[in-house]
Amino acid sequence: MSFDALAAHYRWMERVLAGNKLQRCRTAYLAQVAASQNVLLLGEGNGRFLVECRRALPAARLTCLDASGPMLALARRRLRRLDPTTAGVEFVHADVLEWTPPAPAFDLIVTHFFLDCFRPEQLERIVASIASAASARAVWLLADFAVPSRGLARCRAQIIHRMMYAFFRAATRLPARALTPPDDFLRSNHFVLRDRARSEWGLLHSDRWERGGR
Ligand SMILES: C[S@@+](CC[C@H](N)C(=O)[O-])C[C@H]1O[C@@H](n2cnc3c(N)ncnc32)[C@H](O)[C@@H]1O
Repeated sequence: MSFDALAAHYRWMERVLAGNKLQRCRTAYLAQVAASQNVLLLGEGNGRFLVECRRALPAARLTCLDASGPMLALARRRLRRLDPTTAGVEFVHADVLEWTPPAPAFDLIVTHFFLDCFRPEQLERIVASIASAASARAVWLLADFAVPSRGLARCRAQIIHRMMYAFFRAATRLPARALTPPDDFLRSNHFVLRDRARSEWGLLHSDRWERGGR
């Protein structure tokens, strides 16, 4: 699986196909996590969220992981336009399935449009591994696609999903063939869903999960 060949095209494709809708999902709960100090961004891609995260959390330590070198290079370049030093940001070129999180506990984990890349058994491993590096009250933000439970919205989403997975499987050799909601894996790792905002007829959602919530 590799997004290398797609990296240079990712931004214009998003602009043409979705305008600013995905970015609105990514940043939906950013204001609510402004106190975070140690942030892990997984599968960050070309850095659109990273830049907003840096702006909102100027003092936080950010770890930005992606398996694609070209995606990481774009993220680094985008961040440099805001902060030429990129101080406090560590870029990690790694496959999350093989990465061992470092000992310091992350108090914010972000996986935007990332968990949908994986098959269920991979997703279960990733969530468990990352949760093991999360602090007791960590927040997990995620924006992703979804399939509504019924009606026209469901048919529409199913068609869009079929096309998306066919494209991404051909272009990147994505392991997943269909979307696996991560909810059960997050719950079994003691995360509680605090907020969920749906948009685009339920095709998109933004979540705020919190660990060990009351
Ligand atoms: C669909 S893109 C999403 C990018 C970005 N987070 C966004 O919101 O648009 C998925 C990203 O995850 C990265 N990725 C996919 N599989 C990965 C893996 N096993 N380990 C680390 N990164 C991976 C890809 O290189 C790509 O940048």
